[in-house]
Amino acid sequence: MTQEELFRNLIAHSKEYGFIFPSSEVYDGLSAVYDYGQLGSELKNNIKKYWWDSMVKVHENIVGIDSAIFMHPKIWEASGHVGAFNDPLIDNKDSKKRYRADVLLEDYIAKIEEKINKEVEKGRKKFGEAFDEEQFRATNPNVLRSKAKADAVRQKMADALNANDLVALKDLIVECEIACPISGTKNWTDVRQFNLMFSTQLGSVSDESGTIYLRPETAQGIFVNFLNVQKTGRMKVPFGIAQIGKAFRNEIVARQFIFRMREFEQMEMQFFVRPGEELKWFAKWKETRLAWHKALGMGDKKYRYHDHEKLAHYANAATDIEFEFPFGFKELEGIHSRTDFDLGQHQKFSGRKMQYFDPETNESYVPYVIETSIGLDRMFLSVLSAAYCEEKLENGETRVVLRIPPVLAPVKLAVLPLVKKDGLPEVAHKIMHDLKYDFNCQYDEKDSIGKRYRRQDAIGTPFCITIDHQTLEDNQVTIRYRDTMTQERIPIDKVRSIIEEKVSFKDLFMQLEK
Ligand code: GAP
Repeated sequence: MTQEELFRNLIAHSKEYGFIFPSSEVYDGLSAVYDYGQLGSELKNNIKKYWWDSMVKVHENIVGIDSAIFMHPKIWEASGHVGAFNDPLIDNKDSKKRYRADVLLEDYIAKIEEKINKEVEKGRKKFGEAFDEEQFRATNPNVLRSKAKADAVRQKMADALNANDLVALKDLIVECEIACPISGTKNWTDVRQFNLMFSTQLGSVSDESGTIYLRPETAQGIFVNFLNVQKTGRMKVPFGIAQIGKAFRNEIVARQFIFRMREFEQMEMQFFVRPGEELKWFAKWKETRLAWHKALGMGDKKYRYHDHEKLAHYANAATDIEFEFPFGFKELEGIHSRTDFDLGQHQKFSGRKMQYFDPETNESYVPYVIETSIGLDRMFLSVLSAAYCEEKLENGETRVVLRIPPVLAPVKLAVLPLVKKDGLPEVAHKIMHDLKYDFNCQYDEKDSIGKRYRRQDAIGTPFCITIDHQTLEDNQVTIRYRDTMTQERIPIDKVRSIIEEKVSFKDLFMQLEK
């Protein structure tokens, strides 16, 4: 099965089992907007908890806030979003379809890279065991030619974007002979800038002065509350402020399911440090955040750093943590050393001081900031795509299983009476009652036990226990493990501790603190 097919199946599966529904589906949906269903919200809440607690509970010098989505419009002038939060768009005159010019070029580069990978696979088949991939990539003429072509396009695109040269971007699209995937023609308009912020009117004022924006990032709510939190919380630099909340962007190209949405959620933390110490803290957060991802055990090879060579004017270091989604390695989280840009801008635009008095150095200064910023929905997609598995069993059947890390699984335990009679449901209900305040449990008595196991596999439940006639005599149940499908008899009073060990965040946090 290709990655594309797998991704399609994953999307269908998320809907079928109540993880994610297209928004407003009965009205044919709303592009790039999604609703989280009964299991999706549980998984989302668990991811939030993992992030929030790892920031706010684990670190004594990080606190959390919840700022409003609507903010004073000047904030977005100060932050640079009004002037520069743009994407370059281009229309195909025949299909009337709108594209991001840089995405068209990135897709073009991705096709060349696909060609290189095919060439490498050909080499692997040809040379068998003696195949040295590194050497092949460094010497094969076809690979080198394609690589040079991809590098040249990437460089030209970066130059055009950095210089904000929209004519050069259009010229590059023409030079690469990129055609519209819908109409197949190369009949393009000029490239224009498109601001990604959604705006609306505040109150009854309908002129320009009442225009406010739906926040495109949660970070600014932290910056403008920097002194409120520092003073009321008696925080000492270095310290951090964390926030989870909705953000809105009018993305031109919204695709790949919940990877790029118009309404999404961010988990952001701004860490305030002494000027001059920011690069040390940047390195620390880079490492801490990667360790946070890897601790989930979804496969270390699925993550990589992508350091930014060309930096935004306000940053002096930036990196992305990329995840291997079914459509390739893409940004999951950004870590940025944002200098004193944001606080400095708010100081300038508001006319209020944004300074911190450092009792250790007896100096006042505008702190420098390290930001860690992760999309909750992207994190959700990374978990689902790493977890989704169509597995061939020995008996020839296929089971679909979500190998979600147990700490994040929406349902931790399924309680299954073997039959709906003979007092077994009563025992099962009693176990449910005893455990439901500790874990999210699900009771199921319908269909054969095999079918019930499959249903739980499909939603990623790590443990099932079955209550049978023997249970009435020995107070033992059969516990079945999702990943290995192995089963064992255990006393009822052991169930809690077996599950607790695997689903508590504590071990992960202790691992991260080392
Ligand atoms: N405050 C910095 C900031 O907002 P960003 O790189 O634009 O930086 C941070 O966004 C993270 O938010 C990204 O790494 C990604 O995970 C998530 N994100 C951004 N745009 C998104 C979108 N349209 N849909 C879903 N997630 C998005």
